Amino acid sequence: MSFTRTQHYWELTHPYQVMPCEGSNWLISQTFPENYIVAHESQVDNSSEFLNSTPHRRHPGITSLKTVQLPQHLEQAAQILINQAPGSQLAERAQSLCNFLWSRKRATGDRAIQERAVELEKRVREREQQRAEGPLEQSRLEEKVRKQVLSELRKTTYHWKPLRYDEELSLIYLAARLDGGYAAVSRALHEIKKRVPDFAPQTLLDFGSGTGTVSWAAHTMWGQSLREYVCVDSSASMNKLADLLLRGGSETQDPHIGGVYFRQFLPVSPKVQFDLVVSAFSLSELPSASERLSSIQTLWRKTSNFLCPHDAPCPKLSEKIQLPCNFPQAYRPLQLRWRGP
Ligand SMILES: C[S@@+](CC[C@H](N)C(=O)[O-])C[C@H]1O[C@@H](n2cnc3c(N)ncnc32)[C@H](O)[C@@H]1O
Repeated sequence: MSFTRTQHYWELTHPYQVMPCEGSNWLISQTFPENYIVAHESQVDNSSEFLNSTPHRRHPGITSLKTVQLPQHLEQAAQILINQAPGSQLAERAQSLCNFLWSRKRATGDRAIQERAVELEKRVREREQQRAEGPLEQSRLEEKVRKQVLSELRKTTYHWKPLRYDEELSLIYLAARLDGGYAAVSRALHEIKKRVPDFAPQTLLDFGSGTGTVSWAAHTMWGQSLREYVCVDSSASMNKLADLLLRGGSETQDPHIGGVYFRQFLPVSPKVQFDLVVSAFSLSELPSASERLSSIQTLWRKTSNFLCPHDAPCPKLSEKIQLPCNFPQAYRPLQLRWRGP
């Protein structure tokens, strides 16, 4: 039986992309006035002897973070909450949610669908006009075009549906993703720490904070300096669950980490900024590309110190299949003891 799984963190593409780029410098930049590039490694010439003569572990891009394990307090609290859960078949439902989340695509949004419909309409109309042997009666042509466009759109449009993280789904999400999510975030934060060992954030903003894994991972990394963790999640149930996890599964206990605040909306004032801004696995929960973009812009404005996009376009995103660099991270799965059905 294997005790580790691996978690890719490429979904954490925004707001920070801690992504060593192939054939390029390390591209982690901070919003220092001069757009300071923190870690700079020279480009490796793949045709030289470098790759053969240097041990694999020393190649640029190889970073080491041992198998990630959840903090003991978090694991214990999760177990308590699972034991108290009223529902049945939690294990099966957690597995189904996992499968669903991995296969889920991002929402395109109405505007993108409209643009596609216009493009399709033009193409179908031209095709029908070419096919027709004589002049087509206008109303018949319109009807044909309409039907074909609708049928094509139905076949090719992904029907994205929002997930409503109520009390039940939030708990299922915890069972499904607490361990993998924590591992992915830990790895991303580790990449920052590795490149900028002196970085000591005092404030953190986590957008779409869910069960609070970002706060736990950031606390493990920078617990000495962090004094304020602002968790923003539109789901009141998620916020309650994250708070309970901090309190060891019981409302009456003190939180294990001090200075964690839960909100359902982002702080409105543009003056409120944070040293570190994170959004993990949440942008894909937004209903359109335009909402994702505007959220990223808002988060960018809320960053006083560390938001790490590339300072140049990622070469991987200019390829036909747009897949940013991604790294597997081993983690120890949450060892939940399930109650019977
Ligand atoms: C897939 S969960 C990710 C949770 C957490 N970041 C993690 O890594 O485990 C996505 C979260 O985004 C939240 N969310 C969705 N839309 C949101 C919005 N507009 N503003 C804030 N949170 C949102 C959901 O309630 C949910 O808790």
